[in-house]
Amino acid sequence: MILAQALQQSARIFSHNGIEDSHLEARVLVQHVLGVSPAQVHTQTEQALSQEQVKTLRGLIDRRLRREPAAYIIGHKEFYGVDYCVDSRVLIPRPETELLVEKGLEYGRSRADYLWSLKRPVLIADVGTGCGAIAISLALNLPQSRVYAMDISFSALEVARLNCEHHCVSEQIRLLQGDLLEPLPEPVDLIVANLPYIRNSALANLSPEITDFEPRLAIDGGPSGLSQIRRLLQQVEERICPGGCLLFEIAHKQDQGVTSLINRYLRKARPEFMPDLSGVKRVVRVGF
Ligand SMILES: C[S@@+](CC[C@H](N)C(=O)[O-])C[C@H]1O[C@@H](n2cnc3c(N)ncnc32)[C@H](O)[C@@H]1O
Repeated sequence: MILAQALQQSARIFSHNGIEDSHLEARVLVQHVLGVSPAQVHTQTEQALSQEQVKTLRGLIDRRLRREPAAYIIGHKEFYGVDYCVDSRVLIPRPETELLVEKGLEYGRSRADYLWSLKRPVLIADVGTGCGAIAISLALNLPQSRVYAMDISFSALEVARLNCEHHCVSEQIRLLQGDLLEPLPEPVDLIVANLPYIRNSALANLSPEITDFEPRLAIDGGPSGLSQIRRLLQQVEERICPGGCLLFEIAHKQDQGVTSLINRYLRKARPEFMPDLSGVKRVVRVGF
């Protein structure tokens, strides 16, 4: 079998079995098995697969048909231009979360010179770091920062540690295990959080890729979807420096609920909501 046939056959199997984006899914697996780049998949269409590669590809297709996400099958996912190791211990980072990174960098860059003149870095806390994608993106793009990356899940932090080592930011990022801001040893300038925010009654409507494979702890936001966000808002004021900023991600139509919580727990604050590319109010910013 040659590469072009492998692509075509895999895409056909996916499409017959209701896997969306069948061509893209096929390309990801074929690329992985052959160890070729996205560009090479298009140029090396005549490359022959060995029997071993055909067998491996069949195994991966079977896993995908059982609805395991492609990112777990191949073991990595790109986020903000960088590749991260992922497995079932962590949520697969989503493209919409890149907005949180952009807004974090915007704030960090606006404060870096002033804080540097006080002889200190921008201090950042990433709450619910998972594989570390947000913390590492901020650290790589803001060398004048020091980041606390925190998660309640010890096994998620093991994945984050691997990613910090791969991207050479272990000196800049300190990993801490614990509940929300509880492990934070000092107040910080920027708090970023992508906490679970799906209502638990809505979990059953999600795709099997999410419900059967991603950690429940990473998606279950309790009865209202806002349980963890509510608890975070109760803790923020004591842990943020004057002039600081809180940024967190929410789901579609959670803006009103979040505004009520902010009015209740952060009386002087006025939240701003920032839309993602599909127009959903995705990131909430609160200044202090
Ligand atoms: C939606 S995932 C986000 C992962 C990663 N930050 C990202 O954006 O890809 C939420 C993360 O929050 C963690 N988490 C859930 N409850 C927590 C809590 N009470 N304290 C700290 N982390 C928590 C989960 O273990 C999970 O890693």
